[in-house]
Amino acid sequence: MLATGTDLLARDGTAVAAITTYTLESTRAIVLAAERTGLPVLLSAGSSSFGAVGREPLAAAALAAARAASVPVGVHLDHCTKLEEIEACIALGYSSVMFDGSHKDYEDNVTLTRLVVEQAHAAGVWVEAELGALSGDEDASGDVEVGEMTDPAQAAAFVERTGVDALAVAIGNVHGFTPDPVRLDLERLAEIAAATPVPLVLHGASGVPAEDLLGAVALGVVKVNVNAELRRAYVGALTADVGDDVRKLQHATIEAMAAVAAEKIELLARRS
Ligand code: 13P
Repeated sequence: MLATGTDLLARDGTAVAAITTYTLESTRAIVLAAERTGLPVLLSAGSSSFGAVGREPLAAAALAAARAASVPVGVHLDHCTKLEEIEACIALGYSSVMFDGSHKDYEDNVTLTRLVVEQAHAAGVWVEAELGALSGDEDASGDVEVGEMTDPAQAAAFVERTGVDALAVAIGNVHGFTPDPVRLDLERLAEIAAATPVPLVLHGASGVPAEDLLGAVALGVVKVNVNAELRRAYVGALTADVGDDVRKLQHATIEAMAAVAAEKIELLARRS
């Protein structure tokens, strides 16, 4: 069923995985993993996923898959910087959106996030925003430097001024795989968690050691974004020898991604 409202963000010592989808196969794999584990999931059908197949077809498939699922599945717009796209996704039926003003000037981030919150809340949609800058390409791994970290006092003021439902933090995390695994600054995370009343979000989970992810969840992270690990499984399965039988290739890619997704969903649901 499509998970509306903020139930998936409940602070119960576990986190929900928000996994990026680009295709019907990845949408199927993510929902299948949630059903196999009996746990909820968020399908991140975000701005950077729309490029090849188009916003409406990808969103329609994600929403249909969520509605047909036997477990709660939210459909989330990841990393959006365009107000028109946020409006369009709310109109399509998304259950949550992320406005990413982290690369803007702080005051502009506050103003625009506040605007998105007003529009989204009027439609019953929850909002995630980001403070601090996360480096790395959202769609392809590379060698990146850690960006500007979230300041706990600024995070507290940002949450109060914007009314966001969840805040994405920068605590050493980056998007995609890095040559050496990144380690999270859990001390900073603890300070942010103590200073802010809203649930926290961790982006860039691929390649982060499980103990760091669980440490972050124990400190108040309730949503963890995963992408590159599924991309790697997808691309790896595309080399399966299937002759010209597309259905076999679809099954191979779905199973490869579902295995990775299920592992992550289960890990994050573990209380440490
Ligand atoms: P990874 O690709 O590192 O898993 O990051 C995903 C992400 O944060 C999407 O917003």
